[in-house]
Amino acid sequence: MCTYKRERERGKEEGMKSSMGRVSWISILLVTLILEIVELCICRHEEVTTPPLPILPLPTYSQLKWQEREIIMFLHFGVNTFTNKEWGSGHEKASIFNPSGLNTTQWASVAAEAGISLMILTAKHHDGFCLWPSKYTPHSVISSPWKSGKGDVVQDFLDAATAQRIDVGIYLSPWDKHEPRYGLDVPYNEYYLAQLQELLNKYKNIKEIWFDGAKDPKAQNVSYYFSEWFSMAKVLQSCINIFSDAGPDVRWVGDETGTAGDTCWSTINRTSLSIGDPDIAEYLNTGDPRGTDWLPAECDVSIRKGWFWHKSESPKKLSHLLDIYYNSVGKNCVLLLNVPPNTTGLISHTDALRLKEFRSAINTIFHHNLAESCSIKVSSQRGGKEGGVFGPENMLDSDHLWSYWAPKEDGNEKDHWIEIWSRDGNLRFNVIRIQEAIGFGQRIKEHEIYVDGKVIIKGTTVGYKRLHRLVEVVGHAHVVTIRITKSRGVPLISSIGLHFDPFWHSRLTLASK
Ligand SMILES: *[C@@H]1O[C@H](CO)[C@@H](O)[C@H](O)[C@H]1NC(C)=O
Ligand SMILES: *[C@@H]1O[C@H](CO)[C@@H](O)[C@H](O)[C@H]1NC(C)=O
Ligand SMILES: *[C@@H]1O[C@H](CO)[C@@H](O)[C@H](O)[C@H]1NC(C)=O
Ligand SMILES: *[C@@H]1O[C@H](CO)[C@@H](O)[C@H](O)[C@H]1NC(C)=O
Repeated sequence: MCTYKRERERGKEEGMKSSMGRVSWISILLVTLILEIVELCICRHEEVTTPPLPILPLPTYSQLKWQEREIIMFLHFGVNTFTNKEWGSGHEKASIFNPSGLNTTQWASVAAEAGISLMILTAKHHDGFCLWPSKYTPHSVISSPWKSGKGDVVQDFLDAATAQRIDVGIYLSPWDKHEPRYGLDVPYNEYYLAQLQELLNKYKNIKEIWFDGAKDPKAQNVSYYFSEWFSMAKVLQSCINIFSDAGPDVRWVGDETGTAGDTCWSTINRTSLSIGDPDIAEYLNTGDPRGTDWLPAECDVSIRKGWFWHKSESPKKLSHLLDIYYNSVGKNCVLLLNVPPNTTGLISHTDALRLKEFRSAINTIFHHNLAESCSIKVSSQRGGKEGGVFGPENMLDSDHLWSYWAPKEDGNEKDHWIEIWSRDGNLRFNVIRIQEAIGFGQRIKEHEIYVDGKVIIKGTTVGYKRLHRLVEVVGHAHVVTIRITKSRGVPLISSIGLHFDPFWHSRLTLASK
């Protein structure tokens, strides 16, 4: 572009020369000189190194926001809470729903203290009982003694969460064991869509909606019009993330233990998925490096054994919750942790305490990044060291999405590597954290980690966050090398960390005690 413009200016200059005097010739020369200088500046300016091209598919803005949440809280609450069941019959009397001390502010406070930014409530579970006063069925809070039938749990939930700047989501069970229309395709889908519209019109700013395929094989055969449901959800609230086995925004991880695959791609082919199909669990667990859709996985698991509150159950141990964290958030997923309110309508003190411990443990582990006091060397840098903006320092700042290290793309080098050099040869850690700049697509297929030249990890995907919790504590290390050996395009690393987890007592450590 610059050359083209310059030639045009020269052409102008030539034509004018013959018909003008010496003075104007000099002034034209001057003007041309100035123009050349201006152009030179523009050309220099254009040489500032640009970001690399993204590799499709990419996440949407809403999917990125969802990923950054890391932990979401699920609240299973309804008639099952009072019958001590996991799946209701649909024949429960509304009169049993009476959470006399219900306080949604307490739910939100527990979530806030645990650093949770999104809470999802079961507005209706398989039993069909609605926690909001639906005009399409009397089987709801309207017919219960709670607040003399004038209450609305969904509204209270939304108000309390919003007051503490926590976002909300809802679950509306497709399987409905109470509704007489269940079993008749069109009437039931109309009923379901009516309730969906009712919820999304009345309760604004819903960030996630949950659909599942859970159903007794002996139940009536109904086809769910998922396409219509999903489209209706988006037309009413465009920022909403839709969760189901098959997305379209968030996919199920394929199990209810909170465990993602060791390889976990946020990409997958939606056309290969269908809701409620048990044969796709493995595919959901690992995703697909060639997948055409960005559909990251959510790991749903309960803090207790059951999803609903049962007097006889107690929360999982801290060590178990941390295992779940490493296996979900640490493998490129979001953890959806269920914390069920009890019959009083409150989150049990023991669960609240465990959650607080859980958050505090995560903060303790990741607050201190030993890599920050190290010097970092990289295999190459996009635009060179003078190019400025894609250097290794970007891996140590607090931006884990848009500030990243980018190697050169034209390089002949087979691998890309990062070396973390200790200043005193005394690094002590047992967790390694790597994060990709997923706004440019998920890229890393294989990576290796070395300590002082000895390989300690041979891993696969990284994605938004990969945590390697080591079997043994590494002590007195001089240099840690992260080598990216296979990648779609060049890897873009947004953050790295070396951490010490004092809560982790591996089998090895226990054996030596
Ligand atoms: C509800 O819970 C909050 C937070 O725990 C507490 O401050 C408030 O007093 C409770 N409200 C009632 C009516 O008990
Ligand atoms: C359920 O209905 C679908 C089509 O509507 C049909 O393909 C399937 O065989 C039916 N299943 C049972 C168990 O009747
Ligand atoms: C997913 O789709 C891509 C593009 O069509 C294809 O190359 C890939 O093989 C598909 N994956 C599977 C598991 O079928
Ligand atoms: C529910 O949890 C609250 C808070 O720990 C507690 O005060 C209340 O007694 C519990 N209700 C039942 C039925 O256990």
